[in-house]
Amino acid sequence: MTILSPFVDTVLPEHYRNLADAEYDERIHAAKTRLGKDLVIMGHHYQRDDVIRFADFTGDSLELARIAQQQQQAKAIVFCGVHFMAESADILTRNDQIVILPDMKAGCSMADMADLEELEEAWEVMQRELGDTVLPVTYVNSTAAIKSFVGRHGGTTCTSTNAKGVLEWAFQQKKRILFLPDQHLGRNTAYAMGIPLEQMAVWNQVQGEWEEVKGPQDDWRVLLWKGHCSVHTKFTVDQIERVRQRDPETKVIVHPECTFDVVQASDLNGSTSYIIKQIEQAPPGSKWAIGTEVNLVQRLANQHPQQHIQLLSQTMCPCLTMNRIDRPHLLWALESLVEGNIVNQVSVDTDTAHWSRTALDRMLAIQ
Ligand code: 13P
Ligand code: SF4
Repeated sequence: MTILSPFVDTVLPEHYRNLADAEYDERIHAAKTRLGKDLVIMGHHYQRDDVIRFADFTGDSLELARIAQQQQQAKAIVFCGVHFMAESADILTRNDQIVILPDMKAGCSMADMADLEELEEAWEVMQRELGDTVLPVTYVNSTAAIKSFVGRHGGTTCTSTNAKGVLEWAFQQKKRILFLPDQHLGRNTAYAMGIPLEQMAVWNQVQGEWEEVKGPQDDWRVLLWKGHCSVHTKFTVDQIERVRQRDPETKVIVHPECTFDVVQASDLNGSTSYIIKQIEQAPPGSKWAIGTEVNLVQRLANQHPQQHIQLLSQTMCPCLTMNRIDRPHLLWALESLVEGNIVNQVSVDTDTAHWSRTALDRMLAIQ
């Protein structure tokens, strides 16, 4: 594969729209075959079925980060996921390898809730009020600029799979943790580790002030950034109660990006991989109401017809940005590569990449 011209063009060319299903499939297969070992396609579990079946590797965000790092042979990694995941892949791979996000509009609303300027302002307040007692930890669902800040300040990243282990490591470094951008993952993980709500406070980055202060400042151990996932916060305690009224045998399992009340009311909570494992290990006839992204829930229901699997909410909860990756964009990205062109490359600048890699490497070294 010879790369001729990298360019970013977020608009799908007209001739990739409205093709027949079979034509998309045939041409994607053909382009994959032409690119051979030069290409690796990665797919997050929340991707649509018609896209994820072309992935060479599937996984949650932690698994995909590890897999990206192991790709020695591929010249191009086409990432079917969201922007922050493609950035992590770019940071963790060699400079001569390129990472492509088929649709640049596939962002993450939670990652957009933490911006570097706001973080620098918050950090100044925290240093002034709390001294050198705070270690920043960012969920991987954040921009490379945020990861880089965290890396420069001795901190690390986490995913929903390893959040507990990462927080344990972080508490060995400093008395307090600034956890961003997802207040819910931070609160749910810290509470499960035995830290009471009185030892947490929320930093409102828009107002530039503390909120939900329940105990004296000196006792604070977890400082939560006021960010959230617009998909997982749609699940409610009411929905859980309704499921239980309909059938008390149905187990409720949710992602820790759900609110504290929902996590407390559920039977089980854990990352995407944890949810998949629980379903795979469950006996036939088990009944589940799952509080996570709808593409994954539907896939699990199709893969395990011997179980009764439903989405916790009666209304669909798709991650709209994950769903932006579709066959037209995938085909466009692949056929462009065949022609030697790169569309929609995700490339992190050298300085940002250096410090975000430091943060990611610290996470990957924590077992
Ligand atoms: P995982 O870390 O479980 O893959 O979740 C990523 C994500 O975006 C969840 O909303
Ligand atoms: Fe971001 Fe939520 Fe979508 Fe995950 S599900 S990518 S956190 S918006």
